[in-house]
Amino acid sequence: MSPSRRFFFFSIFLLTLYSCVNHSQRIPLKGKISEKAMVSSAHPLASAIGLEIMKKGGNAIDSAIATHFALSVVYPQAGNIGGGGFAVIRLDDGTIASLDFREKAPGLADRDMYLDANGRLNSKQWSTHGNLASGVPGAVDGMFQLHDKFGSLPMSELIQPSIDLAKNCYTLTALAADILNINQDEFQQQNRWSIPHLSDEPWQKGDTIQQPELARTLTRIQLQGRRGFYEGKTADQIVAEMKSGNGIITHSDLKNYKSIWRKPIIGHYRGHQIISMGPPSSGGVALMQLLRGTANYPIANWGHNSAKTIHLMTELERRVYADRATYLGDPDFVDIPIEQLLDSVYNQQRYDGISFDKATPSAVVSAGEIPPKESPETTHLSVVDDQGNAVSITTTLNSSFGSKVMVQGAGFFLNNEMDDFSSKPGSPNLYGLIGGEANAIAPNKRMLSSMTPTIVTYNDKLKMVLGTPGGSTIITSVYQTLLNVIDHGMGMQEAVNAKRVHHQWYPDEIRLETDALSNSTQAQLEALGHQLRMTDKIGRMNCILVLPDGRLEGGADPRGDNTALGY
Ligand code: GLY
Repeated sequence: MSPSRRFFFFSIFLLTLYSCVNHSQRIPLKGKISEKAMVSSAHPLASAIGLEIMKKGGNAIDSAIATHFALSVVYPQAGNIGGGGFAVIRLDDGTIASLDFREKAPGLADRDMYLDANGRLNSKQWSTHGNLASGVPGAVDGMFQLHDKFGSLPMSELIQPSIDLAKNCYTLTALAADILNINQDEFQQQNRWSIPHLSDEPWQKGDTIQQPELARTLTRIQLQGRRGFYEGKTADQIVAEMKSGNGIITHSDLKNYKSIWRKPIIGHYRGHQIISMGPPSSGGVALMQLLRGTANYPIANWGHNSAKTIHLMTELERRVYADRATYLGDPDFVDIPIEQLLDSVYNQQRYDGISFDKATPSAVVSAGEIPPKESPETTHLSVVDDQGNAVSITTTLNSSFGSKVMVQGAGFFLNNEMDDFSSKPGSPNLYGLIGGEANAIAPNKRMLSSMTPTIVTYNDKLKMVLGTPGGSTIITSVYQTLLNVIDHGMGMQEAVNAKRVHHQWYPDEIRLETDALSNSTQAQLEALGHQLRMTDKIGRMNCILVLPDGRLEGGADPRGDNTALGY
């Protein structure tokens, strides 16, 4: 090797070394730090159970399953056995997998089931409230599939802590009391008997809730496996609940439910490998499209939440959400052009028209008009064990407490996931998302999701586990948090704390958390033609970052009761 080539390679080596050292020195560590293993979830009691399982020798998958069941007890607005979700897994040996345990439409579902005689969306809110809103739950089957493939401790040990929690009382946090109080009227309207979450007096921080019926349902699952939910007494209770209202889930829908191992969506961004969830979630495809567009620009130089960075993100988002509405649905029912959507030339052409002098009206990107509504009630958990195995699970009942119906005698809420279909293609759902033909209702079809459980590696080593609730804002929250770490040099907790913004094509507006953007940034964006709207909190992230020295930093979102625990 010539001296000049040697000097060149030595300089590159020094630069690489410097950037590693420099990066590790400047990461501001504001989160929970642990040496070996960590779990971050929406509730401190659920995280404590997940941690305990790992201390007993369980792996990340065992911990995630135990945390998931615990959330069904202490975080009933979104933690569930009556809903569904998605899991992305990466083992330390490089094995990756993703599981779809999304709910599906009952066999008796019909494309026009939420329309009135005039073909208009029915005014009775049947896609969001009451028994007709529920899809066939996938969560229990999903937990058993995960366990069969990757679990190490017996399933009964993973469910037992949740049975204990349901049998004994658990204590409400201030936020948990608030959300119960907000939902009292709905609980009363949708249930024909008293449920543990109803109270004559307003709930207060420190009050306790006992759920003996839920404890019995969990015990049946513990003793009989998936049959303890999809057949026998629990199935009878679900079907009786359906018949008492206008629900259509049958015994055969329950018995035949199956989660499906899907090919994960894998992409690259600034030297990182990004592993996320494919359809029927739109999360992975949309995230990769956003990252493809972002990679062309030096947003680190432009600055976090600067006008130029937000303008770019908004322009990318309106195009990606328009694609989502047109092309994405259940891959078992519609052909999705995934390769084309992820293709670099396609994305380049898609983004070529972006101007930095003015906003593109969404009407130019496509057509439609919708009223905005939000609900953050999905939940996400992230786990890393002491072997470096990682799990990212997002799970949901859809809106807060799902259909608000608790299955009589069984103690759990059912989802209102049917609203994630396009009840009427071209009309918005409760997130204001427009869907197309690809996401029309059909018997046994899975409804399109935005859930984006994601794992990031760098140089073939685990770097981050990310995810959040937030309906249509899930994709953009994961996107921003990922950029915060990779482009803006933040640590995990700082990246999660950072204020968020969101655009989803329609409504044609940028939603902002309070203090997300300075007055001058807001003025610059308005001058470009963007509409701005202040909104409540966006997302409730649970993330874990592997630091350069191998320790873990948790990013538990202060917008909720989220808690990262480790050892
Ligand atoms: N229910 C929210 C979602 O799946 O995107």
